[in-house]
Amino acid sequence: MSKVTVVGAGNVGATCANVLAFNEVADEVVMLDVKEGVAEGKAMDMMQTAQSLGFDTTVVGCTNDYEKTANSDVVVITSGIPRKPGMTREELVGVNAGIVKSVAQNILKYSPNAILVVISNPMDTMTYLAFKSLGLPKNRIIGMGGMLDSSRFKYFLSQALKCNANEVEGFVIGGHGDTTMIPMARFAKYKGMPVADFLSKEELDKVVADTMVGGATLTKLLGTSAWYAPGAAGAFVVESIIHNQGKMVPCSVYLDGEYGEKDLCIGVPVILGKNGIEKIVELELDEEEKAKFAASAAAVHKTNADLRTVGAL
Ligand code: 2OP
Repeated sequence: MSKVTVVGAGNVGATCANVLAFNEVADEVVMLDVKEGVAEGKAMDMMQTAQSLGFDTTVVGCTNDYEKTANSDVVVITSGIPRKPGMTREELVGVNAGIVKSVAQNILKYSPNAILVVISNPMDTMTYLAFKSLGLPKNRIIGMGGMLDSSRFKYFLSQALKCNANEVEGFVIGGHGDTTMIPMARFAKYKGMPVADFLSKEELDKVVADTMVGGATLTKLLGTSAWYAPGAAGAFVVESIIHNQGKMVPCSVYLDGEYGEKDLCIGVPVILGKNGIEKIVELELDEEEKAKFAASAAAVHKTNADLRTVGAL
């Protein structure tokens, strides 16, 4: 029996659970939230779509009852507050660090072998916090941001190319922040051909800029952080792990010398499988990309230092 827990039944967590159920990624999906009744209500609502949508996954909701999450294979952490218009993800460290740390500790009491997928913001720093405070091997702590940012990159590329997003290849590495992410334009392809063959430098620069503020644009429109794409991207990462798919996905992982960086979690391409991170893929970056990656890492280190300021590490 396969089991996934999603902690936080807010917009992102509930969307993730819904996609997991709809796609029958696991036999059981548990949603846990601190707000009385919310996870139970959303789980019941989802279960009442099972006949219309034709899925057999069981969705269970609970209020802070970690026993119900016992023996999960994968646990997605979305807990904490989302950003409001005008806020950066980094500004959430003070509030979210304590929440993420205590959630992760409670989860491990009941699912000591689980693989953790962290979505809470600032995501790279929350992933680092989980890694530093839990003592788990690095393959079991995965931050989800790169999959989402890559989906946004492919969306903006498809808009510029006037084609279907599934005809486009592209990925984003670096930190999951408005100024830290690095959409890898050099590697982006339209039906196997470099996108630069179809788009001018100005058009490609605009795609990159729109991607970087993709989350902020949605936060401004919605009044809160986005959820459909973040939830679906989280479910994609879970599916790659649970079904041992060996997919290459950019994820935030602990680096120990790879890409010339140490002691931080940041987005790089990895192979995902039943052990979580099966392999970190080291790309050959050019000088400009190397400089961008080093600047991104420096910014993530700076936010990580706030974990000490707020007493989380
Ligand atoms: C976003 O970019 C939630 O950080 C997430 O929408």
